[in-house]
Amino acid sequence: MIQMRYILSILFYALTCSALALSRRAPTAGQLSQVTDFGDNPTNVGFYIYVPQNLASNPAIIVAIHYCTGTAQAYYTGSPYAQYAETHGFIVIYPESPYDGTCWDVSSQSTLTNGGGGNSNSIANMVTWTIDQYGADASRVYVTGTSSGAMMTNVMAATYPNLFTAGIAYAGVSAGCFYSEDNGEAWWNSTCSQGQSITTPEHWAQIAEAMNPGYDGDRPKMQIYHGSEDATLDPQNYYETCKQWVGVFGYNYDSPQEVQNDTPVANWDKTIWGPNVEGILANGVGHNIQIQGEEDLKWFGFTS
Ligand SMILES: *[C@@H]1O[C@H](CO)[C@@H](O)[C@H](O)[C@H]1NC(C)=O
Repeated sequence: MIQMRYILSILFYALTCSALALSRRAPTAGQLSQVTDFGDNPTNVGFYIYVPQNLASNPAIIVAIHYCTGTAQAYYTGSPYAQYAETHGFIVIYPESPYDGTCWDVSSQSTLTNGGGGNSNSIANMVTWTIDQYGADASRVYVTGTSSGAMMTNVMAATYPNLFTAGIAYAGVSAGCFYSEDNGEAWWNSTCSQGQSITTPEHWAQIAEAMNPGYDGDRPKMQIYHGSEDATLDPQNYYETCKQWVGVFGYNYDSPQEVQNDTPVANWDKTIWGPNVEGILANGVGHNIQIQGEEDLKWFGFTS
């Protein structure tokens, strides 16, 4: 009897240890893996990572942020970044929204503040963990996303400009546009989604800069994509987001450097305000805009 109890307790101990080891195991290269222990994460954002089998030394990082109803897994399979990771040796971070409906919190005061403890803070902590863990190159960290993930891309660029070198937003809204007067997390803001939040480049810049007051260092260069027929996030949000980053970089919104028609796709028009801000209006395209993977690699500096 005593012996039986002894055996059972050893068995129990062994099982507990292996469960712990499993939950703490290092990400498996070449597979989407979950990381559960990466630093403060008060809003419970999920952290999934793709470390390529072909990991570069001192690798770059791309943070790829899913749309509402999406998941880390869905964006991993639905976007081209993990495949490119094998070619270029960078790591991809896929955060996962903790909310029903899986939109991102781009509305509360905490997410719209550097170090505020919201979703943006958790994503920043994933970046810091990955830099530490893999000796990643802190000067080559990039952020991109689609729809709600594009909104979060703009929020990340505004709240943690020190972390990112470049960003690309596919069909989002400017940072702060989804602001919630009631401080709600992940709330829909119809004024913004319907394209009625319209202001000047200077004011949008102030809104972005207030998310990290006193910050005076480099900021990520930004590319903004939007479909001209977007019925979910009104195309006015394309212009407002461009204004925001044009304002931040101090370019003249009314006189861009260059407009390239049919670039990078027939019927899409690219406007270049300066080396740090480009907007691409996809004429005739709705909310479901296609990620331009090869173009993204260029903007992030992996190819020329
Ligand atoms: C929606 O966002 C705008 C800024 O784009 C803000 O002025 C407005 O108060 C927000 N609406 C609500 C209901 O919070």
